[in-house]
Amino acid sequence: MYEPGTITRPVVLLGITFIVVLLVLGNWGCGRKPTTQSNACPLEFTPESGPVEGDQLVFIAVEEPADAIGSATMVCRFGQHAASRGDFATTSGLYVCRTPAHQRPESVILTITLNGVEFHMPKRYIYTTHGNGAAPVIGIDVPTIQQQVKRVREMIPRDVAFAAIVKNGEPPGLLADAMARATGIDYFCVPTLQDGIALREAGVKEPIMVLYLTDPTYAPALLHYGLEPAATSLAWVEEADRLLQHASSVLQVHLWIDTGMGREGVMPVDALALAHAVNQSSKLHLQGIATHFCCNYEEDLAAIGNGDLKNQTALQKSRFDEAVAAIRSEGVGLDAIIHAGASAALKHGTTPVYYDMLRVGTMLFENTSPEHRNYKWRTKILQVKTLPAGSCLDYDCLQPLDADTYVGLVTHIPNDEVTYQVRGQIVETLADHEYVVVLDLSRLPDVQEGEEVEIILPDLNSPLDTPLSVPVTLREGAINGVN
Ligand SMILES: Cc1ncc(COP(=O)(O)O)c(C=O)c1O
Repeated sequence: MYEPGTITRPVVLLGITFIVVLLVLGNWGCGRKPTTQSNACPLEFTPESGPVEGDQLVFIAVEEPADAIGSATMVCRFGQHAASRGDFATTSGLYVCRTPAHQRPESVILTITLNGVEFHMPKRYIYTTHGNGAAPVIGIDVPTIQQQVKRVREMIPRDVAFAAIVKNGEPPGLLADAMARATGIDYFCVPTLQDGIALREAGVKEPIMVLYLTDPTYAPALLHYGLEPAATSLAWVEEADRLLQHASSVLQVHLWIDTGMGREGVMPVDALALAHAVNQSSKLHLQGIATHFCCNYEEDLAAIGNGDLKNQTALQKSRFDEAVAAIRSEGVGLDAIIHAGASAALKHGTTPVYYDMLRVGTMLFENTSPEHRNYKWRTKILQVKTLPAGSCLDYDCLQPLDADTYVGLVTHIPNDEVTYQVRGQIVETLADHEYVVVLDLSRLPDVQEGEEVEIILPDLNSPLDTPLSVPVTLREGAINGVN
């Protein structure tokens, strides 16, 4: 039964809380006019995003009396950065502020002080990685990535270490940092020295291996940043050892054996000599012995069990085991981490190739389902029109339209395998020119310019596993709970 006061009391309390919050936080744009004497307030700002390097102009529209246009004093503050003066720019007829450099690609509150009155803009300013500035910003969903790290960790047996591969995704350092916070990662692997440095600078404390071939002249830099390269030849070991003669500590290296991938690593017959060379260097330590499989399939487990060396994984495994046994039989590499398997081995449960550690890349960045993606990539329709039947689409007019067609145009999407969704419906791509993409909106005839378009990468792909020159920002502040 309704009792007087049971509903009104919470409502009143909510209202009071709201007013208090407003008083504490200041004013939110022009939506709610300040109670002060101010005669100007900021309406909106553009562009809404820019690179972390800063030094970008942000234009601010201000509501002010006609006889006072351009006369307000303005101060802008992006997040917690020092405030800086804004000026009126006659060319655009708008006020303008310059962005300061910011450490992380994340969104920050833009606070604008006009004639001494402070306003927090309702939309946040989005800092991004550099990318192709014209492409729409991809927002990486940090909590989703962290969930995926936990899911993968749970699939790996407790006594097997978990090396996370951070490849392709931007920004590598902050992504790895976010993953490390999810706990359960024992090692990181990166493709380049520069990526390794980015991880260290982002505060990653776990061991970091640099995969593939690394020029031995980088040995001092690798040691400095605590990065572990692959040792791939005797010449490599000699050069690294020479450059580290005065080093006070030891470079950890992974002896990489090419057991049948035909890529990086020493051939199995040469592995023992290389292991001895590393062992004899006082500046190198044999931290790991590794290989990589070319062809992982479901049937590998049975083939390994049956000793079927016609199966490529079984064959590579037998070559690897033989090389490791030969090295260890001479008392070398007894404490080395043995590692070989990647996502496919884990997916197929090929347990004999788990060894001491799995190196997992793809699986970490997969979206768990098409509905649960670890990123948001959105743009908006910049033009709509109806193309009459017979219209050409792009050069050479290969497929003229057979009916009048309502189309929407989007721009600067540097991937032609994506799918576009408008109002939750997939819309067909009629022409894709990267700079201009023409979408068929004939089933959505009331869609207008400015409407949002969701961009979806193919299959389970995520931008973290797909090199894309797109500006990236990290979303939802799982990193430090900031944004
Ligand atoms: C040497 C090496 N190890 C492990 C991996 C990880 O493979 P996946 O992404 O299939 O997990 C890769 C691929 O990036 C690799 O090149």
